[in-house]
Amino acid sequence: MRIQVNARNRGYEFDAQPGQSVLYAGLSAGIELPYECATGTCGTCKAKLVAGRVGDGWREAPGRKYLKGGAEFLMCQCAPEEALTVEVPDFVYAMEPGTCVPEASTATLRNVRRLTDDVIGFALELEAPRDFDAGQFVLLAAPGVPGYRAFSMSNFARGARRLELIAKRKPAGGFSEWLFDADREGAKLECFGPLGKATFEPGLGKNLLLIAGGSGIAGMMSILARSAEARYFDTHRGWVFFGVRTMRDAFFLKELSAYAGKVKVAVALSEEDPSATSEWPALVFERGLVHEVAKRAMAGKYQNVRAYVAGPPPAVDAAIRMLLLEARLTTDNIRYDKFS
Ligand code: FES
Repeated sequence: MRIQVNARNRGYEFDAQPGQSVLYAGLSAGIELPYECATGTCGTCKAKLVAGRVGDGWREAPGRKYLKGGAEFLMCQCAPEEALTVEVPDFVYAMEPGTCVPEASTATLRNVRRLTDDVIGFALELEAPRDFDAGQFVLLAAPGVPGYRAFSMSNFARGARRLELIAKRKPAGGFSEWLFDADREGAKLECFGPLGKATFEPGLGKNLLLIAGGSGIAGMMSILARSAEARYFDTHRGWVFFGVRTMRDAFFLKELSAYAGKVKVAVALSEEDPSATSEWPALVFERGLVHEVAKRAMAGKYQNVRAYVAGPPPAVDAAIRMLLLEARLTTDNIRYDKFS
């Protein structure tokens, strides 16, 4: 199905596969259409229908509250039912050469394992090798469960055959219930990605501040893996703040301990005091919300810093506020993908 997108700076034409959303079709064609969550919650991908008809895959999508007037729709949720002309109220550019262009594919679920009572780790075995940048995410759809959910990679590899991911159990979360409620080893999933602009490349040349709440630690592990591969922390400083409620909710402590010689790693416990003796001597444990613990530890250390933030939206919002108001980082130096 042919789609014409008229942006503020120029027009683009591309095709969508049957049932494919306007956003996913445009991104697959190498066009940087605006998006953030890519799963119907943020409203960033809104556009105006000028001609043609779209089918809306999720009429209750929370992102629809940002739409004005009957002609606006969410590009990540709507697929063309006939040739379309669409107006996007932003400047839109073609992807830079070297960008990891997202693609739709099928992947096999492997190594499903419990990390805590409500967090599962799993791997996706890909049919063909894929490149992605550290800090990116993929969208997954499970058989019989409508819609996609976003998951950040926790590993890093060029030409990856395997993506490592984690999922937190969510009340009424279709995909997470599907994953938690039965043995899903070997299941086939629909996959779209990689996506996300909160990415890290070693050419950055800045000290890294990583603030994550809960399963938001996944993307930080990918950034740490990429940094370690490039020996980035031989010449730059790094701080990791990982927020969980209690020690029972903490995971990846062994993996984080392995980085702790190069970067400072603190685990923030919001609902209990750290115990006097620790099984993890390389890590610091502190009581408090993750942005508060980061604020205390980082005072006076913000020179030449790029911050990455991930986690539940309230934790991400609190950390961004702290980084803008206390740390006085510029918006360009605060990277996040909010898709929980
Ligand atoms: Fe479509 Fe967030 S609602 S990108």
